[in-house]
Amino acid sequence: MIYGKLKKVNCVASHDMVGEKSSRISGFYRLEMEERLSKVADFSGLSEEEKNLFLKNGELSLAIDRSIADRMIENVIGIFELPLGIATNFRINGKDYLIPMAIEETSVVAAASNAARIARVRGGFTAWASEPLMIGQIQVLRIKDKEKALRSIQENKVKILELANAQDKVLVNLGGGAKDIEVRFLDDMMVLHLLVDVRDAMGANVVNTMCEAVAPMIEELTGGKVRLRIVSNLADKRLAGARAVFDKDAMGGEDVVNAFLEGYRFATLDPYRAATHNKGIMNGIDAVVIATGNDWRAIEAGAHSYAARTGKYQPLTKYWKDEDGNLVGEIELPIAIGTVGGASSLHRKAQICKKILGVKSAKELAEIIASVGLAQNFAALLALSTVGIQKGHMELHAQNIAVMAGAKGEQIDVIAQRMIEEGKIRLDRAKELMKELYG
Ligand code: MEV
Repeated sequence: MIYGKLKKVNCVASHDMVGEKSSRISGFYRLEMEERLSKVADFSGLSEEEKNLFLKNGELSLAIDRSIADRMIENVIGIFELPLGIATNFRINGKDYLIPMAIEETSVVAAASNAARIARVRGGFTAWASEPLMIGQIQVLRIKDKEKALRSIQENKVKILELANAQDKVLVNLGGGAKDIEVRFLDDMMVLHLLVDVRDAMGANVVNTMCEAVAPMIEELTGGKVRLRIVSNLADKRLAGARAVFDKDAMGGEDVVNAFLEGYRFATLDPYRAATHNKGIMNGIDAVVIATGNDWRAIEAGAHSYAARTGKYQPLTKYWKDEDGNLVGEIELPIAIGTVGGASSLHRKAQICKKILGVKSAKELAEIIASVGLAQNFAALLALSTVGIQKGHMELHAQNIAVMAGAKGEQIDVIAQRMIEEGKIRLDRAKELMKELYG
């Protein structure tokens, strides 16, 4: 088993379907880019226009119009792009998905697909997500009587929630809105948490608006001075998780499962290793978050603060053996993403990525993202605890080096292959070979 390239595994059972849409597309990586896109378009019902957006170079292919980009952020000089890959083989809660991943790192997409293929042997991923409850924080200073301030907040809770909800009638009509208030005291300050059900939005905007709107009322009720009013990215009331059973034979046998668990244990004992372990998880998570136009910095902040919630930085995944010796993996973390609103509504390719996924809600997207995080981590640990990850990286890495040395078209494969054969994957060697073979 290798981290990077797709490789056949020894499947003991199959959950591939007949007649249903299947994400199990054999040899997908061997197809030309246009052929891959056609398969994805067939799977997801993309129109010609949507397909063309990915195919064409230049102005037509832009996911966001220059004029929109110019309004999205400040001092715009252009648009910065990333490769978009499709992870295959994912089956989550009984449904097949093709998963768009925007990322610059070699091997991540292949590794996720490979892990999903192994998970598929025993039915794929079972994923869940909690209600989309975000936390807005209001910091209150200079409180003279803590007991009295707390009582006043409790007695006026309904009034505070009503004022918060007056800020977004649409959200309230959809069943969302401010639902509850929690109060904490940290040293001499009071911290009020406004709990807001943001439905299918990421929610930072509405939460911030609500916090700012109720702040004067909070000052009046507590006699204190409000300072910060802002969403918390430790969204620990908006968790998502996934679990999968990885078949021991598909993994390569009992010894491999044991080696895997030995490798995993390292992350439970050491924050230096746990950081890299979680970074690997975020390779997959961020790539889907970016492809769907979501705020990956928020997801990163949430993931790492959640990993440290006990005071000791821990891996976001857990692994153990079931009674038959198969490996069971589980992940849980805050996933504050939206399927409506925000930049994703302006970004045409992000919209098409959501169509490729066929997601109907932020909850479903969070479940997919959690599954990809688990798949990514499983693939990395499987490779690390056996052959290492460099082997899988080699081919695409060599191709990248060839491109850096100026290789074009078929030259890229020729130069990369020569460097792999020689065991010298270096820019200076690529340049020499370019000179030697193409003058
Ligand atoms: C590389 O981007 C990610 C890994 O380092 C993750 C890990 O070590 O678990 C391979």
